[in-house]
Amino acid sequence: MPQIKYSYISKKKNSRNKVFFVDEKFNISTLKKHILKSEYLFIQDLLKSRDTKKNILSFDYSSKSKIILVSLKKDINNTEVENLGAKFFELFKSFSENEYILNSDSISIKLKSLIGHFLHGLKLKSYEFDKYKTKKNKKYISVFVIGKNIPSPQDQKKFKAIEDGTFYTRDLVSEPGNVLHPDEYAKRLNALSKDGLKINTYDEKKLKKLGMNTLLGVGQGSIRGSYLVTMEWNGLNDKSKPLAFVGKGVCFDTGGISLKPAKFMEDMTYDMAGSAVVVGLMKTLALRKAKINAVGVVGLVENMPGGNAQRPGDIVKSYSGKTVEILNTDAEGRLVLADALTYTEQKFKPKFIVDLATLTGAIIVSLGSEYSGLFSNDDKLSKQIIHAGENVEEKVWRMPLNKNFDKLIDSKNADMQNINYVGGAGSTTAAQFLQRFILQKTPWAHLDIAGMAFSKYGGALNSGGATGYGVRLLNKLIEDNYE
Ligand code: BES
Ligand code: MN
Ligand code: ZN
Repeated sequence: MPQIKYSYISKKKNSRNKVFFVDEKFNISTLKKHILKSEYLFIQDLLKSRDTKKNILSFDYSSKSKIILVSLKKDINNTEVENLGAKFFELFKSFSENEYILNSDSISIKLKSLIGHFLHGLKLKSYEFDKYKTKKNKKYISVFVIGKNIPSPQDQKKFKAIEDGTFYTRDLVSEPGNVLHPDEYAKRLNALSKDGLKINTYDEKKLKKLGMNTLLGVGQGSIRGSYLVTMEWNGLNDKSKPLAFVGKGVCFDTGGISLKPAKFMEDMTYDMAGSAVVVGLMKTLALRKAKINAVGVVGLVENMPGGNAQRPGDIVKSYSGKTVEILNTDAEGRLVLADALTYTEQKFKPKFIVDLATLTGAIIVSLGSEYSGLFSNDDKLSKQIIHAGENVEEKVWRMPLNKNFDKLIDSKNADMQNINYVGGAGSTTAAQFLQRFILQKTPWAHLDIAGMAFSKYGGALNSGGATGYGVRLLNKLIEDNYE
């Protein structure tokens, strides 16, 4: 797949391939001052027999020169412009040209940063993970934007920061389990201090001292270490309460002694996606120098069967002091998050906590790959998240929490058990479990992204594989409500 580079330039640059925006009727009279008369007459003639269903048309003026028209309807919104950019990428794939001039002066629609959204969609769609292909079939396409109708320098920086953060998340999620194990992951996170994040790494020794035994229990069957890593962004340069984001980072989930079946077990290399979203978000915030304080907390473990692995029936004491009977070692995400949540609440006293996790297969049964499941103790935070999701087309559906579900996870032998043996409401009982580790009524929301983190077929703004779902959603939540 081609790789896209776009840049805003002020100098006139000549390229044989030109891109223009026109209205929904493909009225080209506004282009007269930008193209040659002969070119104008050429496309005017061809437009008469155009396919009226298409909103991007490409004309081969000569064997080496194209004129491309992108039609915009009057009431077009951000998402539609981004999707159009992504569609444009599909077209690029079939062209052999590799340099284009995009003229922003032909835009007549007043939508803030329209070109920015268009290029954002184009760029996001162009991502490909080909690190392990020895034959790279890579072509670079440069898009030079000219004219005055361009995003402010601040917006340009914001789009770039979101792209970099999202691509970082996708890179992490795409890495196989043999490469991105917890030791390697912790090492990579340490390097993020170069972006201005303050990184703290807690290794097994420190975690043991703190009493994070539900997290440690999950990783004890692995030859790799287990870690909790915190990433702080202090954009306000003060001590005001941060926003907290917590992520499940199970680098590979075999199920442990409650081993998963072989078929599709390979998918469990993306069981660290929740943590990767937190990391990508923190990177985005740092790159765009967001005016907020935020902290990202990730629990990094590998869930393996092994001589020292946790057994079904084991009872462990969490950081909160509450005890958990492990009835199924494959319900491990909630054990990692339990300690991470309590620790985050206690250490950072945040305004709110949002956690992300590929937590249950049951959420895929409920919502497929269209919505993530939202569970929350706070209506205001829920509304903000749902609204942000609608805005960036990373949709969220609220699911219930209710004390009546509690009996399903109460245990005979400990304070609670890690699965519901009666069956039913698999995603809610998992969320209900997590809620028990929020001790001080901090506004909290849990996003079950099991159906969203990875896409076999590709979506509007990704071409298949790791989606990066969540980075744009949470960035928007922050931008609209907390900055
Ligand atoms: N990581 C899985 C959930 C998952 C499944 C994510 C499919 C992405 C795709 C999680 O750790 C898990 O194994 N959950 C179990 C819970 C059960 C043992 C109560 C599940 O969903 O089956
Ligand atoms: Mn599991
Ligand atoms: Zn898992």
